[in-house]
Amino acid sequence: MSAIIEVRQVSKAFGSLNVINDCSIQVEQGSITGLIGPNGAGKSTLFNLIAGTFAPDSGSIWYQGQDITSIPANQLFHRGLLRTFQIAQEFSHMSALENLMMVPPQKGESLFNTWFRPSDVRAQEAEVREKALEVIEFVGLAHVKNELAGNLSGGQKKLLELGRTMMVDAKVVLLDEIAAGVNRTLLQDLIRNIQRLNTERGYTFLVIEHDMDMIAQLCDPVIVLAQGSVMMEGTIQEIQEDKSVIEAYFGNDAH
Ligand SMILES: Nc1ncnc2c1ncn2[C@@H]1O[C@H](COP(=O)(O)OP(=O)(O)O)[C@@H](O)[C@H]1O
Ligand SMILES: [Mg+2]
Repeated sequence: MSAIIEVRQVSKAFGSLNVINDCSIQVEQGSITGLIGPNGAGKSTLFNLIAGTFAPDSGSIWYQGQDITSIPANQLFHRGLLRTFQIAQEFSHMSALENLMMVPPQKGESLFNTWFRPSDVRAQEAEVREKALEVIEFVGLAHVKNELAGNLSGGQKKLLELGRTMMVDAKVVLLDEIAAGVNRTLLQDLIRNIQRLNTERGYTFLVIEHDMDMIAQLCDPVIVLAQGSVMMEGTIQEIQEDKSVIEAYFGNDAH
């Protein structure tokens, strides 16, 4: 068994709305797995369940062979399972580099919560700064490191979000529609960086994406979610040729 993430027969309702229905998926260690499906299929909800934002009503979720059902997001973050977040409003007035430096460390106290022993703080700050400089170079944002995050383009913000995952020792990163609003050139940068994090750092990715070109370039396998359950899993070619998938996306007119 080489699944790093396993969702076993998970269901989740919001009030009377059954959003995830007896859903089971496996994400292989070292893969870049795609998750696609019509709007409202439950893709983001499934992410929230895996990342610990919500607990499932039934079923279980496994990470590295351990049951993580109902373990909260901050603990999973410390164990290397994380999702990217949009740069929050309150961080938009800080520079790109400072945004990286603000990511809480996996172990020990946050740099900015440490009030005592200024010499330790200085040493730790230097270390974090060095790491942030390395990361900002890796994601190709060194030329805007001192720019306020709020002034970055949409695509640059996405690269910065990806960079934030590199400030900790991530193992699995969940990406929810990060291509939205990103221009073609930066989209290629984003794709290349995801591939490099996968091959050079061993990240496993689970990628929700609307952009089928991006899915085709990046993901194998691809899982299709419809009405909260897995409809199909396969290569992007297999999925694009499947009649039931085409119907789920386009209704019965698609013949
Ligand atoms: N926190 C929530 N409370 C109530 N309903 C929600 C919540 N989150 C999602 N939903 C509903 O669950 C359904 C699936 O949403 P979502 O997981 O965002 O789908 P997708 O990401 O595939 O578009 C939608 O009908 C949405 O309105
Ligand atoms: Mg969504």
